[in-house]
Amino acid sequence: MPNFINAFEEDVYKGLTAYPKKLSSKYFYDEKGDKIFQQIMNMPEYYLTNAEYSIIEAHKKILAEKFSNSIGFDLIELGAGDGKKTKVLLKHLDKGNYKFSYLPIDISKYVLKELQESLKEELPNVDVQPQEGMYFEVLKRLSEYKHRKKVIMVLGSNIGNLMHDKAIEFLQNIQKSMNPGDLLFMGFDQKKHPQQIINAYSDAAGITEAFNKNLLTRINRELDGNFNLDQFLHWETYDPETGTAKSFLVAKEALEVSINKLQLDVKFNAWETIHTEISQKYDDHTVNWLASQSNLKVIDQYTDQDNLFKNYLFSI
Ligand SMILES: C[S@@+](CC[C@H](N)C(=O)[O-])C[C@H]1O[C@@H](n2cnc3c(N)ncnc32)[C@H](O)[C@@H]1O
Repeated sequence: MPNFINAFEEDVYKGLTAYPKKLSSKYFYDEKGDKIFQQIMNMPEYYLTNAEYSIIEAHKKILAEKFSNSIGFDLIELGAGDGKKTKVLLKHLDKGNYKFSYLPIDISKYVLKELQESLKEELPNVDVQPQEGMYFEVLKRLSEYKHRKKVIMVLGSNIGNLMHDKAIEFLQNIQKSMNPGDLLFMGFDQKKHPQQIINAYSDAAGITEAFNKNLLTRINRELDGNFNLDQFLHWETYDPETGTAKSFLVAKEALEVSINKLQLDVKFNAWETIHTEISQKYDDHTVNWLASQSNLKVIDQYTDQDNLFKNYLFSI
């Protein structure tokens, strides 16, 4: 195995030499991937964004009351993205003169910079402290935030990118960083008509296909690879029993790819897959089970008018 200089190199090497092949969805988000994800959020098929936006808009008053306290609080958002929905809450908190700092955390430095710049213009009075990094490493640093109340927020059903065992580890890590009185506010996309879920991750215009294939473009650019994107299909599946949606890239023919920086040649048989993303869907039963496995208590829940999406409030 070559010496890896970062996690991306190591994960790509391990993922493409495994059977079946896999790549992590967290690597979708580079400068181009962030832009494609913003297009996804505007697609008619991607109901998640509007549903969660409407939940936050409808409940911002009560959320501000629950989040705040007299000496102020830290609002920590994991995987903040462009903050489209969070801004609804930030505007309300700012208008109401609530005392708080906003700490957006994201693996993508590009999206964080954009978020910071837009907040400087739109909400110049809000104290913003962006943190670049992966959930787990940043969560370790966050356990030092003990001096005042913490509200940890995870929107967009980001948790759905983790299989249940990893989701429990993620929740347990969050739980360990919480003190009595701290809160966790998290979005969980709900089980619904399977076709609606398939359409959200396999739209007619091909935007989700471009997002999925951006992983290959990124390997070509950053690791000197020679993937031909046209040789791969974007394929989405959804199992209504487990609630698991999966995205794949499928080789349409037998082919070989060289990734020079990893000194790696990868062979694909015709119709061989690369699993790239999971987007888990939930119901109350599953969320309560995840909470019980992580020593978290569900203390409130909010939904949109069509029950597409739910945000749950947890305490320890
Ligand atoms: C599906 S987007 C959702 C963004 C935002 N929460 C929303 O609801 O619009 C996921 C975001 O999480 C970030 N992300 C994904 N995996 C991550 C990880 N392991 N650590 C930190 N950030 C991550 C991505 O860069 C991206 O901005």
